[in-house]
Amino acid sequence: MNIKFTSKHKPADTHFIFFFKQKEEFQLLSSSPDLFSLFAHISKTEDNLDGFRFYPDGKGKTADRIIFLELKPVKGNWNETFRRAGNALAKAGRSLSHLSASADFSNLTPLEAKPEASWFASFAEGFVLGSYQYTTYKKDENKKKKLRELVILCNELSGKTVNAAIEESVAVSFSQIFARELVNAPGNELTPAELASRASKSAKEFEYKCTVLNKKQIKDLKMGGLLAVNKGSVNEPVFIILEHKPKGIKGKPVILVGKGITFDTGGISIKPSAGMGDMKGDMGGAAAVIGTMEAIARINLPVHVIGLVPSTDNMPSGSAQCPGDITSMAGITIEVDNTDAEGRLILCDALEYAKRYKPEVIIDLATLTGACVVALGDKAAGVMSNDDELSSALGVAGMNTYERVWPLPLFDEYAPQIKSDVADVKNVGGRYAGAITAGKFLQKFVDADQPWAHIDIAGPAFLDSADHYLSKGGSGFGVRLLVSYLRTKAK
Ligand code: BES
Ligand code: MN
Ligand code: ZN
Repeated sequence: MNIKFTSKHKPADTHFIFFFKQKEEFQLLSSSPDLFSLFAHISKTEDNLDGFRFYPDGKGKTADRIIFLELKPVKGNWNETFRRAGNALAKAGRSLSHLSASADFSNLTPLEAKPEASWFASFAEGFVLGSYQYTTYKKDENKKKKLRELVILCNELSGKTVNAAIEESVAVSFSQIFARELVNAPGNELTPAELASRASKSAKEFEYKCTVLNKKQIKDLKMGGLLAVNKGSVNEPVFIILEHKPKGIKGKPVILVGKGITFDTGGISIKPSAGMGDMKGDMGGAAAVIGTMEAIARINLPVHVIGLVPSTDNMPSGSAQCPGDITSMAGITIEVDNTDAEGRLILCDALEYAKRYKPEVIIDLATLTGACVVALGDKAAGVMSNDDELSSALGVAGMNTYERVWPLPLFDEYAPQIKSDVADVKNVGGRYAGAITAGKFLQKFVDADQPWAHIDIAGPAFLDSADHYLSKGGSGFGVRLLVSYLRTKAK
């Protein structure tokens, strides 16, 4: 698939023309005079123009087919507007067996804004992300002819700059699709060992480092939480360590930690069966971290980053941990009051492990609590941090990429909820403020002066229904967010 930004028009199988509604009037974003009169004619006779198809005949035609699509503005966010437009093109083209397409933005005046390279990078992003479907187990899919070339027509901006931006956003989008594939893969396919093997395959291909610790090494490191959660399973746990360190880059690394529960039954505190299948996505944090490592390796971002992924499934069995069990890690004893609060148990091993790097920043991502989904739904992740600067940088990255994060407080007054009668801490904090008490639990394993953010992605990591360029299921949430955040670190 080749996406190219150019001012030179070239005939294509399908020509997509965008229009823009302004003060109840349709404005064409194309400067082509013949299309203009065609559009004027059609817009008078058709009441639904969005997706309207026109088949020109005769010689000198620009395309076999012309499709009109509406550019629907997202308030205050041109990037998201263009991302959705890219998706609209992908969706309108899905049923067509065309090899080439052009997207006509040869007249941007009606937008009344100064065009930016990032608009078209976002457009390409929306197109690539919007083209993805999870079809691994659908025998009849994947037979259609695939679009080979998409040309974006525009007379403004430097082609070189825009094409470079497009190339990067396409690379990042492919890594986000890699993350979505990991999330969508069912638990019987994606075991911890398989997760590790896919990470290591990606690391080989895109040239970053991947080390996989096995159960014995995990035991030697006394990762009590990961081992406790793994007790009920027939699959061995893994601890994946990824590293992107471009030559000549010095200084402390940024550490990314991702929750890698390949399936969460709840364990002995078993979940109700309705909807439990979604828990194949309980490694959404791991997918975001692995996808981000791949993405920054692809674009060779000049920043030192280490990814840590503790991974196991959470199963009930004769050997599983039980409520009331006491586990210890990093010198802290933990009363496991509920085996379904397993994410925080494996994450604190990784947070403890992170200390050896003396990192500049630690960011963990986890599908951690249903409470966070109740609070924010699937449109935003909750961010909890001991560092305002980090929290707001993530907020900005979230708005830019539309992988939005919203702050929740880590007030000390929430801490008594996770006090235990029998151990130093308890792994659940009751019904109120469930996302925050999970954050407070994790905070116990982070040094007070260590900048750290915890992002609860339980809502946006796995979608119940499609959301523009994101199909139902795994969203790969976090890849674009983290890449955008890391770009600011690279500057
Ligand atoms: N993986 C779940 C959280 C989750 C819920 C993710 C819904 C995505 C969608 C997590 O391990 C869990 O079970 N959390 C419990 C914690 C509780 C026992 C304190 C929850 O949220 O109910
Ligand atoms: Mn759970
Ligand atoms: Zn879980």
